[in-house]
Amino acid sequence: AQSLLDWYAANKRDLPWRKTVNPYRVWIAEIMLQQTRVETVIPYFERWMERYPTVEDLAKVELREVLKSWEGLGYYSRARSLHKAARLLLERHGGQLPATAKELSAVPGIGPYSAGAIASIAFGKDEPALDGNIRRILARLYQLDEPVTSTAGNRRLWELARQALPEGKAGDFNQALMDLANHACLPKTPRCDLCPLTKHCQAHLHGQTRLYPV
Ligand code: ADE
Repeated sequence: AQSLLDWYAANKRDLPWRKTVNPYRVWIAEIMLQQTRVETVIPYFERWMERYPTVEDLAKVELREVLKSWEGLGYYSRARSLHKAARLLLERHGGQLPATAKELSAVPGIGPYSAGAIASIAFGKDEPALDGNIRRILARLYQLDEPVTSTAGNRRLWELARQALPEGKAGDFNQALMDLANHACLPKTPRCDLCPLTKHCQAHLHGQTRLYPV
């Protein structure tokens, strides 16, 4: 964790949702980033924040306006869920997002990954956040022989991610993994020469990065 955090301190990407830890901004970014690349998300995120700077602003507009703002991002169920969630949060939680992964998972559109990401990044909770990219890193680091999408593999990955968390720094840790996945631990041809974790990476040490994730 410390090698990764040091690397992140020096290499962290300058992204618009990293400027503040406003939970609303973190939430919107994580939903947009679920199925869409960072470079595509940036202009949508900036426009969104101009149009709907708070939960209340989002709750008060009509769904068709929200869908219009989403045009081009795809997977429109994300926009529908965001709008529905904003109305629920305004009615029941004073327009605030809840602060724990468990409560966040009950919000429309927030699954286990987004709940962990928002709880750790916006609320400083010690929660892992496993997406496909982070699964790939952990599968290589620990040479996980179970398929990453199997029930057993999935359970093991969440355990490994939780064990590895540095206390009080999970938000940076999770975002460091996201950046590492994008920068060095690439799907097809990993750039191990750029990675701060090679000393610890079982797949790398055995010359088998190509075989992982299963
Ligand atoms: N992908 C998903 N969440 C991200 C984040 N917070 N920063 C960079 N990439 C991400």
